[in-house]
Amino acid sequence: MAHQSSMTAKSILTNIVCVFIVAPIVTALIVWGAWVLRPDPPPPTSSLDAMPSHTADIRPAPQTPVSGRTVYMASCARCHGASGDGKGTEQLDRPARSFLAGGFSFGNTPEAVRRVVQHGIAGTPMPGFARTLNAQQVQAVTKYVIGLAPPAPPASDDAELVVQNRPLVLRGMLPARGVLEGDQPRGLLIGGIDGLTLAYDVDEVRFRAARQGGFAARTDWENRGGTPLQPLGRVIHWAAPRSVFSIDGRSVPAEFLGTTIRDGVAAIRMQIPGVRIKEHAAITSVGELPGYVRTLVFDGDASAITMMLPSQGVPRYLGRGESSEWWRDGGDLIGIRGAAEVEAAGVRLPASGTLDIIVLPAADIDQAIRAGIPGLESAT
Ligand code: HEC
Repeated sequence: MAHQSSMTAKSILTNIVCVFIVAPIVTALIVWGAWVLRPDPPPPTSSLDAMPSHTADIRPAPQTPVSGRTVYMASCARCHGASGDGKGTEQLDRPARSFLAGGFSFGNTPEAVRRVVQHGIAGTPMPGFARTLNAQQVQAVTKYVIGLAPPAPPASDDAELVVQNRPLVLRGMLPARGVLEGDQPRGLLIGGIDGLTLAYDVDEVRFRAARQGGFAARTDWENRGGTPLQPLGRVIHWAAPRSVFSIDGRSVPAEFLGTTIRDGVAAIRMQIPGVRIKEHAAITSVGELPGYVRTLVFDGDASAITMMLPSQGVPRYLGRGESSEWWRDGGDLIGIRGAAEVEAAGVRLPASGTLDIIVLPAADIDQAIRAGIPGLESAT
């Protein structure tokens, strides 16, 4: 009996050894073998493949990695200084950023810094490099300038909300922008991973302001609606509060439906009679001019509806550029892509589909002319 049970114990032990030790090793060996013996990957396809066979063996030289420092010295040092201390040779109306001090105020993540490099900062001399630097160069120089800064200290202030890899949406009271306006008890802030934050009223959905930089703080997170939200980014654009949509000159308030976050993009949803609208925003640039774009997607027939431009005054129509209609509002340029028709201070919406509202705040006129925005030569 004792003998038999010790045999059983032994065979159990053997089984355990087989299952838990030998089997994983065998599996690992098979996987490793398959990896080592895998067929060579197909050669990279390039336009050279299309060439006649006698030149087919000429391959581009292996790509040298892009040096962030080289890009920096060529494109950034004249403003930000060779050492990154913000003291470049170029005369600017404000100091360029010193990277040595750390703390990127226009974005807390490498992704946000990359977008700033690509699209610039609206209303400042910081230009967008999307046209002049390719993706690897932008990536390399982004890494380089982040590397100039000391490691970011952990957020010192619990009251500050920082957008990391996912957009943030916050509802609460928004402080008045000026003395003529009251606080907005039902405000909404949407902060994207690119450092752009849009503020809306949600009673009747109305765009209020676009900010670039930090997201928001609130002194009292417990008490919803109590203390106002404190948006942290710098205002790059704002619009006078007024009704946005109208039919036959009669305003139709947009009703707030909610917000969604999908694939790293936050959207606000609203409806006007017969039409649902989903809107999201991103930093963009036109030529070297930094700005941002709001994209409205319509579900339903919107063709009877007029949309006012998000402006401070009465915008002046400039004309049609390559793919957008352009207006000037003070120093800002407003472009609409996808409109069915242009009206006095607004556009007729497309029957369905998509409309882009592009805003280039405090735009430099020479750069705007170079970027192909119409009607400006006569305006200056
Ligand atoms: C024509 C001058 C100019 C050039 C060229 C320039 N910058 Fe800037 N940059 C500025 C100014 C001015 C600011 C500060 C804007 C402000 O805060 O008002 C700035 C800000 C920035 C910021 C934001 C820092 C923050 O606080 O978040 C980044 C990042 C940046 N620059 C990167 C670069 C990189 C990388 C290059 C080169 C590819 C470059 N800049 C080229 C003028 C320039």
